[in-house]
Amino acid sequence: MSGSGRPVALVTGASRGIGLAIARDLARTHTVVAGARSTAALAGLVDEVPDVVPFVCDVGDGDSVATAVAALDADRLDVVVHSAGIADERPFDTFTRDDWRRSFEVNVFGVADLTARLLPALRRARGTVVFLNSGSGTFSYPDGAVYSGTKFALRTMADCLREEERTNGVRVVSVHPGFVDTDMARTIRREAGREGPDESYVQPETIAAGVRVAVDAPHEAQFETIAIRPTLRA
Ligand SMILES: NC(=O)c1ccc[n+]([C@@H]2O[C@H](COP(=O)([O-])OP(=O)(O)OC[C@H]3O[C@@H](n4cnc5c(N)ncnc54)[C@H](OP(=O)(O)O)[C@@H]3O)[C@@H](O)[C@H]2O)c1
Repeated sequence: MSGSGRPVALVTGASRGIGLAIARDLARTHTVVAGARSTAALAGLVDEVPDVVPFVCDVGDGDSVATAVAALDADRLDVVVHSAGIADERPFDTFTRDDWRRSFEVNVFGVADLTARLLPALRRARGTVVFLNSGSGTFSYPDGAVYSGTKFALRTMADCLREEERTNGVRVVSVHPGFVDTDMARTIRREAGREGPDESYVQPETIAAGVRVAVDAPHEAQFETIAIRPTLRA
């Protein structure tokens, strides 16, 4: 995989939305290992970037994560971007225990498990791990208990990991977007009856540009937290 001599970047959630934009952007300079739940979901990206390496993995399933990492022939990873995620937003008393569990499995436990398994390869490269967090990881709001709860947990996880990895030279970046023009934000805002104008969304390519700044920064510095929010209020 790294035989091309290019650095290697693994991106989850690369089938669509923010992850797809980041995979496309990083593919300009890196060999991209693209995460999705099926190879079919990566067809568009593979057509566009033929040397993309598929990484089939359901991050909400521990067996799937273990199998995918075992099959990955990655001696070193320069970049890992966790973009896979789900947003379940509704009133508190409508959530069952299984609803809480499903969101935490995907947004927190799967991300933690995958990161831990990839740390040896990240350390060998003195690499950069990027967590797609959210404004919801910094403030609380009605209907947000589950989603915001997962993102607060993810922020704490990233902050702790960053301090642990300072001695290993692995950089840990939390990216906190506001509303981005993807299926996720469009659906949430449509269901809330406030889809709003196109200009009230940040484009996924703009989030990719923010990730690029963190990845390209000289290694002595890390962009620890990056907030990228729409200029206009929704
Ligand atoms: N859009 C926003 O406004 C916004 C704002 C702040 C933060 N974020 C965060 O940014 C990240 C990307 O969001 P997005 O807007 O790009 O969402 P999206 O358009 O809904 O895409 C979500 C991505 O995650 C993947 N995914 C979901 N569950 C998965 C699982 N169990 N295993 C593997 N992959 C899974 C999806 O794959 P499939 O195609 O297989 O479903 C898809 O590639 C998320 O972590 C989200 O919380 C988004």
